[in-house]
Amino acid sequence: MFTFVYMNYKRLSPNLIQLDTIDSTNNYAANLLKTTKVTNGTVVMTKRQTDGKGQRGNSWHSEDDKNLIFSLIVFPDIHVKYAHFTSLAAAIALQKSISELLNEVKIKWPNDILVGKKKIAGILVENQLRGELISSSVVGIGININQTAFRKELSATSYFKELGQEQNLEVLFNRIYLNLDFYFDHLLNKNLKLLLSRYYENLYGYNEIKRFETSDEVFDAKIIGIDETGRLILQRKKANLHFDIKEVRLHLI
Ligand code: BTN
Repeated sequence: MFTFVYMNYKRLSPNLIQLDTIDSTNNYAANLLKTTKVTNGTVVMTKRQTDGKGQRGNSWHSEDDKNLIFSLIVFPDIHVKYAHFTSLAAAIALQKSISELLNEVKIKWPNDILVGKKKIAGILVENQLRGELISSSVVGIGININQTAFRKELSATSYFKELGQEQNLEVLFNRIYLNLDFYFDHLLNKNLKLLLSRYYENLYGYNEIKRFETSDEVFDAKIIGIDETGRLILQRKKANLHFDIKEVRLHLI
């Protein structure tokens, strides 16, 4: 059983629900929100996920007992137009935590975490709305820690693959939770400018020309930022193009 080792959190109220096996911690957390009153900061964690969900309708595969698989429940109370800031805050917190031990840790738009050009962590945020406000968010996080083998086409890595030794999941989880607390405090204080500048500082390929793919072409363009709804802005031949997550894919070459 994991415990929280730090005492003073800025914003999150630590509460940990640990499960042996579940379809998806995001689904469990969403159901919990419907049936119970939970704290801002509740975490649902599991050792084994049978139907883990990823972005773009993909699945998230994780070897049993080897990695961190959890969902954080937060009550952002921000306008739906700022929805992307929840995933941005989580991505910055993960980038910070992972770079405490590993080098070359970057955020790939919108919120994958890379070590070099390989993915080490993913985030899937699912929001519940009340009118135009986000009343609650389930921030699903999967981080590869002690897994040693990945399907080649995934181009993935883990702490073990990078460092050559097993890591203590509880210690890493505590560092991550502390960083999530720090950046969600900024989110709840509406320090959106600070979050955005931290995001750009750590964004893979920011202000650089990279290769992209849409449903009908492959092209090179410069990443110049994200717009007010979180879409990626690319500069191509002097024109600024805006893409949402389903419309474009960045090539890691
Ligand atoms: C992605 O990169 O595609 C997002 C992956 C998110 C995976 C996590 S694991 C915990 C939580 N529960 C899920 O079903 N998905 C997220």
